Amino acid sequence: MSAVIPVVDPTKPLECPALYDLSRPLEVEVGCGRGRFLTGRAARMPDCEFLGVERMKERVNVFASKCRRLGLANAHVLRLEALYTFHYLLPAHHARRVYVFFPDPWPKRKHHSHRLFGPLFLNALWKRLEIGGRLEFATDHEEYYHVVEECFAADARFRRVEPMERGPEEWTEFETMFRGQGLPIHAAAWEALESDDAPLAPLTIAPEDEPREGVVRRESRGKEWREEHADGD
Ligand SMILES: C[S@@+](CC[C@H](N)C(=O)[O-])C[C@H]1O[C@@H](n2cnc3c(N)ncnc32)[C@H](O)[C@@H]1O
Repeated sequence: MSAVIPVVDPTKPLECPALYDLSRPLEVEVGCGRGRFLTGRAARMPDCEFLGVERMKERVNVFASKCRRLGLANAHVLRLEALYTFHYLLPAHHARRVYVFFPDPWPKRKHHSHRLFGPLFLNALWKRLEIGGRLEFATDHEEYYHVVEECFAADARFRRVEPMERGPEEWTEFETMFRGQGLPIHAAAWEALESDDAPLAPLTIAPEDEPREGVVRRESRGKEWREEHADGD
């Protein structure tokens, strides 16, 4: 069976028996790329479920081939926009850890609205994390690092904690490259605290930005992004 989870409706909770075995803990990696980090972890921790979220088709396919080659039954991948995944698809308060390593920093000011971290994502993130569950974050981009710090500091449902220590076997693909270039890596982690819980209101997103099965249309992300996804459209 392929590790790629089909998305029937990106605004409905995911129906996937493996993921909904709520007796097993769940760890999710946003922007998992080709799965270097997550498939390694899944191989070392067979009693936990691992879900990668990645919007690039080629990377999702490589992730799935690794799972096949390593015989991993506990690793899955979704080809979908992370915000939708967290807002609509995941079970409430079930993820023990969420990893966001080297997210696209969108350095130009005119592209800042494309950044993942902001109140919408934090809202959906809190809803999916267990109370006491953690978000682990790392980036090479110092300015974005401070932006993410500020986002969490403004949300009383999270408390800053020490980031996990990861040896070279747990470095991601981009991290291995950045460390090889001698770039400084900034890491941080936050824990989800008990708070008032309410259903998430539907996302209000322009029709042209609505995701479709297997791919997210974000025309505003520009030509380069559209070309990257041309085979999936
Ligand atoms: C800079 S790469 C880092 C990949 C991997 N985390 C690593 O460190 O090697 C960012 C990855 O996140 C994916 N990505 C970025 N934003 C995303 C989003 N909103 N939803 C899903 N995937 C996303 C990109 O396609 C890309 O594979």
